[in-house]
Amino acid sequence: MEKHHIEIMLPEETVNQRIRELGEEISRDYEGRIVHLICILKGSVYFTCELAKRITVPVTMDFMQCSSYGAATKSSGVVKIVKDLDEPITGRDVIIVEDIIDSGRTLSHLKDLLSQRQPASLKICTLLDKPERRVTDVDVEYVGFQIEDKFVVGYGLDYDQQYRNLPYIGVVEFD
Ligand code: IMP
Ligand code: MG
Repeated sequence: MEKHHIEIMLPEETVNQRIRELGEEISRDYEGRIVHLICILKGSVYFTCELAKRITVPVTMDFMQCSSYGAATKSSGVVKIVKDLDEPITGRDVIIVEDIIDSGRTLSHLKDLLSQRQPASLKICTLLDKPERRVTDVDVEYVGFQIEDKFVVGYGLDYDQQYRNLPYIGVVEFD
């Protein structure tokens, strides 16, 4: 690993406050319904748990893990499912929970794939969004923070599998 340090971009309390707001917004939007959260492993584990704690309507959860194909085929936007959902989503009110949207390829493919299973509704909630990097258009209903094009870690996001456990969002600065 190259020599680097982490600088705080979004402090813990800022992140937690925003997650509380997202939880309140979702609770209002889904009144009288059950929200089925789909956590995209591994990065959105932390965010999904914190968000779920702030939602006041009934919540169910499922987990899915995807990986992008190698660089050569990446532009096709094809993602491989490493672990599929345990339960069907047909007729359910589904929210895909992501840590960050970068090019948008992963989520647009995932949204297409899951919409084929005919959920009652399908929305996306992401903690972070890097709009400058977007290659594939994807509708995102809930965004925690729009950030500049910097490599960030913490709150589930990793740099070579490290730093997921940081309770804040930090920027990796190379020394
Ligand atoms: P994309 O939107 O398909 O390009 O891919 C989004 C995925 O790339 C996320 O789920 C992360 O795993 C990863 N990613 C993108 N930007 C960052 C970052 O700044 N830090 C850590 N992981 C990132
Ligand atoms: Mg990652």
